[in-house]
Amino acid sequence: MKTTSERIDELKKEKNAIILAHNYQRGEVQDIADFVGDSLELSQKAAKTDADVIVFCGVHFMAETASIINPAKTVLLPDAGAGCPMANMITAEELRAEKAKHPNATVVTYINSFAAVKAESDYCCTSANGVKVVGSIKAEEIIFVPDKYLGGFIEKKTGKKMILWPGYCPTHLKILPQDIIDRKKEYPNAKVVAHPECRPDVVDLADEALSTSGMIRYAARPEVQELILATEVEIIHRLKKENPGKKFIPASERATCPNMKKTTLEKILEALETMQPEVKVPEEIRVKALACVQRMLEIG
Ligand code: 13P
Ligand code: SF4
Repeated sequence: MKTTSERIDELKKEKNAIILAHNYQRGEVQDIADFVGDSLELSQKAAKTDADVIVFCGVHFMAETASIINPAKTVLLPDAGAGCPMANMITAEELRAEKAKHPNATVVTYINSFAAVKAESDYCCTSANGVKVVGSIKAEEIIFVPDKYLGGFIEKKTGKKMILWPGYCPTHLKILPQDIIDRKKEYPNAKVVAHPECRPDVVDLADEALSTSGMIRYAARPEVQELILATEVEIIHRLKKENPGKKFIPASERATCPNMKKTTLEKILEALETMQPEVKVPEEIRVKALACVQRMLEIG
């Protein structure tokens, strides 16, 4: 009898599908993926692929972004319920009301948001390029949604004052400054990296604040032998695989994203068998959201 991975492989070839996985996916899902990356790399990959089907192992906004870029392709999200609680923290109506209060403002939206919110925005960004995107904007007034922590981090780096929406990531909020202090005591020679979705008092204790793939690149540096990671714990799977012999320490074991764990090999197989659940964006919203995503991809 064939294994689940072998069946996935067969169906992938049969349907000309590509499997994209985020750095927080379960280890076994990362291992069968064609490409593993951060939100920016995954959207860049989705923009370039010539596959007919994209199986997106991540959360809903990531699959939606792939579909915004590729309306002719079938984008599958193996668990339809894999959402991002931060993306749920702002609706298109709420953003329209905020824009009405600041009619001259430019709107920058974190990729962790619904297509309808992107459709109301001027620019999109990820944690990897937020500083670059905001730095390139000349406007006096900028509204940043939905992550107040990433927004605050970008403000500090660019010196631009922004109107911040009070959203946040519940997973990263579980990491406390005391966790970093405790880990540093246990591993005095370790470097510390934090995701900019963390609280500012956590980011302040880190050597660098980076996107997930930024962390992967940082960990590969020869001078980094021990690394404390203030982000979702599953990133350590890839780090260990790519850096045998190095030590990777989660800042807190509590930092797990339940939505990222919803995707399993069995659900990937079922998605390829049934070509469901599919993520599609209504054309009117898609066209507007695409302009915002494309501006980001052009900045890089
Ligand atoms: P990255 O873009 O850094 O991979 O982050 C995505 C995310 O959801 C972090 O919580
Ligand atoms: Fe959303 Fe946070 Fe999970 Fe990332 S880690 S998908 S921001 S809830």
